[in-house]
Amino acid sequence: MKMIAPSILSADGSRLGDEITAVEAAGADWIHIDVMDGHFVPNLTIGPGLIASLRKATRLPFDVHLMIENPEQYIDAFAEAGSDWITIHVEATVHLHRTVALIREKGLKAGVSLNPATPLVRIEPILPDIDLLLVMTVNPGFGGQKFIEGSLPRIREAKEMIRTLAPKVLLEVDGGVTLQNIRTIANAGADILVAGSAIFGSGDYAETIGAMKALLTAPTVPV
Ligand code: DX5
Ligand code: ZN
Repeated sequence: MKMIAPSILSADGSRLGDEITAVEAAGADWIHIDVMDGHFVPNLTIGPGLIASLRKATRLPFDVHLMIENPEQYIDAFAEAGSDWITIHVEATVHLHRTVALIREKGLKAGVSLNPATPLVRIEPILPDIDLLLVMTVNPGFGGQKFIEGSLPRIREAKEMIRTLAPKVLLEVDGGVTLQNIRTIANAGADILVAGSAIFGSGDYAETIGAMKALLTAPTVPV
């Protein structure tokens, strides 16, 4: 089953708890939370304290996307805060395997993400040891960017790699997902579709998420 994960990066920051409640009521499956440190990416967002507060707003899984250097230093804190999934970047840690193991030791699901210019082969050795592969389809740091078109073959290739090496791994796509391209991205193999501005920038969350889900579940027309 394909799922929608609204990214609260594009939500109204003055009412984050209410925004989460609103997308939950609108049909969101997961809540995607972007954590940025001003080093790995040129932006700063939220930390474990705020995530712990937001935990009270919903029981939906918290999908925490760490765009931070040396994530191994913060796994404890993000686990304590109530994360369900923690995704780290392959470019941000030297000992990727150790950090993934640490996430799983905490009883959480572990994800690994790649920037658009990072060769997919970098995650091949770790694929059997993770729960989720997050393919970035914009350069991380900001919401509202345009989907990098060359990402489609990359999503297909990632799906193929998963099928062959670790079929239980979920494939998540993040960046520039809209009502216009979500179906193509899902057909390329994405299981979890992250969408920030396309949802929070729309007037009616239920209508937007409903339309996205309809596009995900409509039968594929052979081409
Ligand atoms: C970008 C973040 C994304 C971002 C997506 O660094 O990882 O999750 O919020 O925003 P949209 O959907 O607007 O591209
Ligand atoms: Zn993200």
